[in-house]
Amino acid sequence: MLPNGALFLLLTCFSGLVYGEVAANFNNCLQFFYRNEPPKGITGSDYRHICQLYHNAYRFATLYDIKYRTPLYSAYKLHSPDGKRPRPDWMIEPQLANSKGDKSMKYIKNPDQNVKESQAVNDDYTNSGFTRGHLAPSSHQATKDDRTATFTLTNIVPQAAISNNQEWNKFEQNLSARFKNVCKDKLYVVTGIIPYQSGEHKIKDRVFIPEYIWSAYCCNDNNVGKDQGKYFPTYAAVGRNDPNSGDDVVKKSPKNSGYDVREMPLEELEAILKKRLNMNITLFDGHCGAK
Ligand SMILES: *[C@@H]1O[C@H](CO)[C@@H](O)[C@H](O)[C@H]1NC(C)=O
Ligand SMILES: *[C@@H]1O[C@H](CO)[C@@H](O)[C@H](O)[C@H]1NC(C)=O
Repeated sequence: MLPNGALFLLLTCFSGLVYGEVAANFNNCLQFFYRNEPPKGITGSDYRHICQLYHNAYRFATLYDIKYRTPLYSAYKLHSPDGKRPRPDWMIEPQLANSKGDKSMKYIKNPDQNVKESQAVNDDYTNSGFTRGHLAPSSHQATKDDRTATFTLTNIVPQAAISNNQEWNKFEQNLSARFKNVCKDKLYVVTGIIPYQSGEHKIKDRVFIPEYIWSAYCCNDNNVGKDQGKYFPTYAAVGRNDPNSGDDVVKKSPKNSGYDVREMPLEELEAILKKRLNMNITLFDGHCGAK
């Protein structure tokens, strides 16, 4: 038994760890998850919860792996953008490097060693052969500040140019178009990665490259999107990030570039994630009412 004083000290220490926007959970930004429930089953000791704060408002949420220096997923609500894609400097997450650091994402010209140890930095991507691929894309955010906030490196993975600029980009556009007039402010998206099963696939020997990028959405608001057929209330997709991957997850079509995107039911994606990540994953509460 600990004396009461020690227990008090212990508790204050722990609550000290939880202050700020890199925290033990997503409690400060549950509004980005369907029914305020983050995905269940994606757990690991190196994973950090980031409520992405920019200009004093939360913009989306990210689960970040400090060992692979990559996001596992970002979660957000899909909106139509009210303007053009911004061109901000790439930001980092100060609290990954120092729990007492700034709560807000931030541009730092020359990140120090603490920052570099804790996360990917812009230089990792320079001349890496990979583009900076958004999980929560700028084009799915409403305001200029919302869009700017997606340019934080904790929301970014090394993505092959053809995937980023063509196939996956097309998928993101398709999704916006599909729900442009339905599910207003009620379309919840989670977009994440599947690492390679074996071998070290990294840029600059630091940042892990995903083998696949996946996405799932949930729009279950008073049947408002029910004219969408199989795409309602929830659907998912997996995109290839490597033309040399096998055909088991997403088949490579001979007429495509090798970066195909395959749409699929939510439960099929969850089965793929279970197999590949060895985790029992529920992306949306009650499977978003999927039949
Ligand atoms: C986008 O939508 C078009 C038209 O429905 C479809 O042919 C195409 O396969 C879709 N592309 C992706 C990557 O989802
Ligand atoms: C997933 O759930 C099943 C059935 O509930 C269980 O048998 C299995 O051990 C679980 N696997 C993991 C990786 O947690």
